[in-house]
Amino acid sequence: MGASSSGCGTSSSSSTLRQGQGGGGLRVVGKFLRGAIGFLLAMEIALFHILLRREKRRMAEYFEKNGGPILKEVNNIKIFKKEELKLILKSHNIIGKGAFGEVYKGLLNDQEVAVKKPAVNVDAAQKGQFANEVIIQSRIIHRNIVRLIGCCLEVDVPILVYEFISKGSLHDILHGDNLKPLNLDQRLSIAAESAEGLAYMHSKTNTTILHGDVKPANILLNDDFVPKISDFGISRLIAIDKAQQEKKKATYSDNGNLIESFLDAHKKKSKGPELFDMEITTTGDQELLECLARIDVECLEYDVDQRPDMTYVAERLLLLKRSHDN
Ligand SMILES: Nc1ncnc2c1ncn2[C@@H]1O[C@H](COP(=O)(O)OP(=O)(O)OP(=O)(O)O)[C@@H](O)[C@H]1O
Ligand SMILES: [Mg+2]
Repeated sequence: MGASSSGCGTSSSSSTLRQGQGGGGLRVVGKFLRGAIGFLLAMEIALFHILLRREKRRMAEYFEKNGGPILKEVNNIKIFKKEELKLILKSHNIIGKGAFGEVYKGLLNDQEVAVKKPAVNVDAAQKGQFANEVIIQSRIIHRNIVRLIGCCLEVDVPILVYEFISKGSLHDILHGDNLKPLNLDQRLSIAAESAEGLAYMHSKTNTTILHGDVKPANILLNDDFVPKISDFGISRLIAIDKAQQEKKKATYSDNGNLIESFLDAHKKKSKGPELFDMEITTTGDQELLECLARIDVECLEYDVDQRPDMTYVAERLLLLKRSHDN
């Protein structure tokens, strides 16, 4: 018993010793793990700070390169932080895609906006012009031109923020996903007011600003079907790069075939559906439609000098619209 108890005593004290050693070992491992986790955490925080600082430096460089210091002083144009647009630039907010990027719908300061995020590389020379274009655009406030609200300069290619135009593009309404019937009256208004917007840009601003890509996709309509021309100036500046890559397009851009067939039909003295959409070729409007066709043909003169200027076109369309209203 004694031996056994002493044996027991011996074994219990050696197991206590082992436990003591084991506990000490565990404590060492625990300390080591705590140290390692602490070290990793500290490394992570340091890395995070380095990346954050690098990102901030890069954003500041972009801001500088995109003319931020000049544009900060311009009235009428708001400079947005990248952070402010982050929530809008999510794939579920995409409302359209163009040749050079995506358009997102969002809310900024309780105002609905369309945010254009170009996805192309813009060459350095054009980037230099960016600030100039924004300054010009900041002075353009016209009922028939989509207003530029602001831009974000903390990114390589500036992001543009426009007023949101509720009914989308005329192209989608006439031919696309957003089909809506438009009567002759509405079409005349859209044509006359679009021409007014163009005429304003061509002659009423100090610098003549040519659009270069007027097409139904770039005419947006608001709730009352008032047309607003989009992609003036800056967007074009960014798009030019893409266009240059694609080589210069034909004079009539995407609508080349349509225009050729219109001119052919007009030469053959066709009337009605061959020249116009079926919905508006009612007999009572023939005279008006012929006047419209004549204006179109004049505008499509191959020789630029033979084409009427936009102010003249806008006036004629307005007169036609008035005569149709009466
Ligand atoms: N300010 C806006 N308000 C509402 N929708 C807009 C606005 N700007 C653009 N959109 C929508 O986004 C679509 C894409 O516009 P975007 O200008 O990028 O391409 P596009 O006009 O179709 O072609 P392009 O690149 O040749 O201009 C438009 O068709 C329109 O539906
Ligand atoms: Mg467009």
